[in-house]
Amino acid sequence: MQAEIAACRQVVVSNDSQGGLEMIRDLILRNRSYRRFDEEVDIKPEMLRELVDLARLSASAGNMQPLKYILSCEPERNSLIFPHLAWARYLTGWPGPCEGERPSAYIIVLGDTEISGSFWCDHGIAAQSILLGAAERGLGGCMIASVDKEGLRKALEIPTRYEVLLVLALGKPGEKVVLETVGPGGDIKYWRDGEGVHHVPKRPLDDIIIG
Ligand SMILES: Cc1cc2nc3c(=O)[nH]c(=O)nc-3n(C[C@H](O)[C@H](O)[C@H](O)COP(=O)(O)O)c2cc1C
Repeated sequence: MQAEIAACRQVVVSNDSQGGLEMIRDLILRNRSYRRFDEEVDIKPEMLRELVDLARLSASAGNMQPLKYILSCEPERNSLIFPHLAWARYLTGWPGPCEGERPSAYIIVLGDTEISGSFWCDHGIAAQSILLGAAERGLGGCMIASVDKEGLRKALEIPTRYEVLLVLALGKPGEKVVLETVGPGGDIKYWRDGEGVHHVPKRPLDDIIIG
């Protein structure tokens, strides 16, 4: 299926799917959670706007579209956001990316409580759309829900009408991430090997389809 916005602002949907599933699978495989970046590589505000536009076009419960966004790609603003994020809880002893390996940009996903009292899973869908778009552009990122929300609110003076839902860290990936199958012990914890490669165990397909 292919959809695009025509000049008349209607959505045109076609059923032409040649090779489309492989393309989507490849993009999903490339869309890993990256936590170390090449901070020298800038991300322009236009790129962030382009990514948020993908979220804007995505599904929303009751089509309420209650999500709002704060964009950051300037070092000064980025440095206000970084201290409020918790990274990779299974990598105990790793405090998160060091200077030079931190995200070049962030998209903060907010819920506008004046539009809706419940955001359902809108922010997850929006985050995935944004990160798939980033992967397609050769970037990478990480959804971060472990956020000191009040600290971030104060740092950026976010009005109380907006609930902080997620922070998306973005940048040029500076680490290798590989997927593997969860072993017989069932351990799902990601881990980093001696070469710095990040390993992510995924449950087998037959284990998750239960009927
Ligand atoms: C809703 C959600 C919240 C997450 N929050 C954090 C977080 O606070 N900090 C972090 O380092 N990673 C976070 N992650 C990333 C997960 O740890 C990551 O998706 C998981 O390890 C699997 O890796 P993968 O995304 O490469 O498949 C979050 C992911 C999701 C979907």
